[in-house]
Amino acid sequence: MVSLNIEKTFGFISKENVNSYAEVAMAARKTLEDGTGKGNDFLGWLHLPSSITKAQLDDINATAKVLKENCEVVVVAGIGGSYLGARAAIEALSNYFSWLQEKKKAPVILYAGNNLGEDYLCELTSFLKDKKFGVINISKSGTTTETALAFRLLKKQCEDQRGKEMARKVIVAITDAKKGAARTTADKEGYKSYIIPDNVGGRFSVLTPVGLLPIAVAGFDIEKLVAGATAMEKACGVNVPFEKNIAAIYAATRNELYKRGKKIEILANFNPKLHFVGEWWKQLYGESEGKDNKGIFPASVDLTTDLHSMGQWIQDGERSIFETVISVENSDNELRVPSDSENLDGLNFLAGKRVDEVNKMAELGTQLAHVDGGVPNIRLSISKLEEETIGELIYFFEVGCGISGYILEVNPFNQPGVEAYKKNMFALLNKPGYESESKAIQERLKK
Ligand code: PA5
Repeated sequence: MVSLNIEKTFGFISKENVNSYAEVAMAARKTLEDGTGKGNDFLGWLHLPSSITKAQLDDINATAKVLKENCEVVVVAGIGGSYLGARAAIEALSNYFSWLQEKKKAPVILYAGNNLGEDYLCELTSFLKDKKFGVINISKSGTTTETALAFRLLKKQCEDQRGKEMARKVIVAITDAKKGAARTTADKEGYKSYIIPDNVGGRFSVLTPVGLLPIAVAGFDIEKLVAGATAMEKACGVNVPFEKNIAAIYAATRNELYKRGKKIEILANFNPKLHFVGEWWKQLYGESEGKDNKGIFPASVDLTTDLHSMGQWIQDGERSIFETVISVENSDNELRVPSDSENLDGLNFLAGKRVDEVNKMAELGTQLAHVDGGVPNIRLSISKLEEETIGELIYFFEVGCGISGYILEVNPFNQPGVEAYKKNMFALLNKPGYESESKAIQERLKK
């Protein structure tokens, strides 16, 4: 089970400060439960873990089997909430180098539709030229430019390379029930498709087929992942009192730190496999809380790697930050530092120790140094990187985000700010329907 320790924030804030949020945090939790708060038409994620049925999971696993049997590579096309959760889970659970191994137990998962890099798409499509590949096209709106553009390229390539019939078998759509181009295409082409429920927003959708299908295709056990999320749903339930409700305590602590001028939260890990958990978390919290001219700025670092870059800033820069460290208690493998008779590198003091022990001392040393340097430290521990703990972590952060957003008095479930760049981009590209914006933007650029 994920456990939370906020003791290393005391000294910056007090236990009493945190406890003073008990009422407001639990009221926020109840507002989520009762569906009486802002954005209450997007609360479908709240009971996803406990409400997903065995039949739904079986169906996702059956689709994953078709992709696994017919593809060496599966490209997940999606952006933001339509890919980050899947990527976070897959990368946390995968053997780093399995995609280079000859005999793979599952297709290699690649990602597209999350950028507009021409080189990226060129290099991806040329890599796929001699590969048996499939595509999972994920877009709730079904109209997101980055994803639609990548899918247009991939669909054509898949059909040209593998034939229309096989393409129909290995292309899956996950989108709205009725609206959007992704739905129109899926229905017309007869693709297997899944519906993203209306009441589940992108960044809260990892426990729907949006996350579960790619995770299953990558060879992981989605039943275990959902079981972990269900355990956390229970542990952070509306009737679990504040002192025991770790999502409420997390939300309270970060809001108190924010109030005291700690405007930036850095999510740190000491395991490179968690890099994309950081990316997913930044989207979840950034898009949910950054509005109405307020909200903690979510940043992330991979340690010890970034101790040699951002470490300087964290230790000595402006004291406007706090850190939340995800600590993985046990690694999957055991690797000991060998002894060396010449000891030219001077590392014999580590001989016989596990690499993980060295990492743990780096972690402890960093925590002490950062606290000494004025950085409050929240610690989340998980026993091991496995499906259950990843499921727990996902749900913990989701419900923590909902509670935190309500404490901050924003609507955590909308994202009006992301439309601004789209309007300008469409105007600049002369998209039909944007004629007056096109004219206005051309005038503006002339000045
Ligand atoms: O959380 C969100 O709602 C967004 O990040 C979306 O997931 C992202 O913009 C992609 O949207 P769509 O799934 O409609 O393509």
